[in-house]
Amino acid sequence: MKKVFFLVGALILTIALTGCNKSASGGSDDDGIQKLTIKFSHVVAENTPKHQGALAMKEYIESESNEKIKVEIYPNSSLFGDDDEYQNLVSNNVQFIAPDISKFVGHNPQFNVPSLPFAFDNDEAAEAFWDGEKGQEILKSLKKDGVLGLYWWPNGGKHVTSNSGPIKSPDDFKGQKFRTQGGQVLESIYSRLGAGSESIPFGELYTALDQGVVDGEENTSSNIESKKFDEVQKYMTIMNHTRVDYAIFTNTTFWDSLNDKTKEIVEKGVEKGTKVAREKAKALNEESLETIKERGKTEVTELSPDQIQEFRDALEPIYDEFEDDIGSDVYKAVREANDEYGDSE
Ligand code: LMR
Repeated sequence: MKKVFFLVGALILTIALTGCNKSASGGSDDDGIQKLTIKFSHVVAENTPKHQGALAMKEYIESESNEKIKVEIYPNSSLFGDDDEYQNLVSNNVQFIAPDISKFVGHNPQFNVPSLPFAFDNDEAAEAFWDGEKGQEILKSLKKDGVLGLYWWPNGGKHVTSNSGPIKSPDDFKGQKFRTQGGQVLESIYSRLGAGSESIPFGELYTALDQGVVDGEENTSSNIESKKFDEVQKYMTIMNHTRVDYAIFTNTTFWDSLNDKTKEIVEKGVEKGTKVAREKAKALNEESLETIKERGKTEVTELSPDQIQEFRDALEPIYDEFEDDIGSDVYKAVREANDEYGDSE
């Protein structure tokens, strides 16, 4: 009798462990592919480069694994938000995140690169920097936390929106308060322009703008359009002064638990997702800007090259201020990417 109880107990324990799905879990059978559920959490809407990349990844992985691997995507901060997604990746409660890297500057000040004013001449130069030696070194810099950077998903330039007057010259920032994604460089940009700033999670931004907690914010056209920030912002200025760039991160313990066959499928899926996220970035940002203009809720200002130059001049001292934190080698790699892929003057 004791033996039967023991066997039943062991069986229940085995079932419980197999079903325990805090992280991706499961076993493999004949085809060698592990049965897994993988969670991908992000904060933006569905009609964005990030979500489209995640969807491409899901489609590939699920179909190539004959549905043995399930990928659950949680957009709009529905699983984790800006405040807790990193910790939950470290704890393996989620297996993929693709944050705007300017939110991770507390882990590595080099994640401030997309916040450096007018750092890249164009998207191609930014992409070349991230794919180059320095970009790859930065991508791998979270190893100490058990976090593995797989690819960069560059998004695009940010524009400024506000409810308290159009932004046409550096002086127009004076006295206004802006929400930032976080980090010392963005903070310094606003203080140099005589404005205040506050970091607010993306999931709370619409309400913060609507309620006047801040006057404005800076973002890509696709984030502004898909979250309808233009509904609660009277003015938008095309600036491209800073960028949103994502990195796709996974948990190292999860990654190392994949057998060769499974890892090959997941790795290929991430590669497909990367391709789509990159392709969609430019297209969706352009489309979104058109949609914002058509909706007509916010007045869109385009600046002349001379007006842009005024902002460049006002923000140039940021480079000296952060050279020690970010590194002259990183600055050099940014310059080289511009020399090779940027707009020649
Ligand atoms: C924001 O927080 O404004 C954006 O960076 C969100 C995102 O992930 O694009």
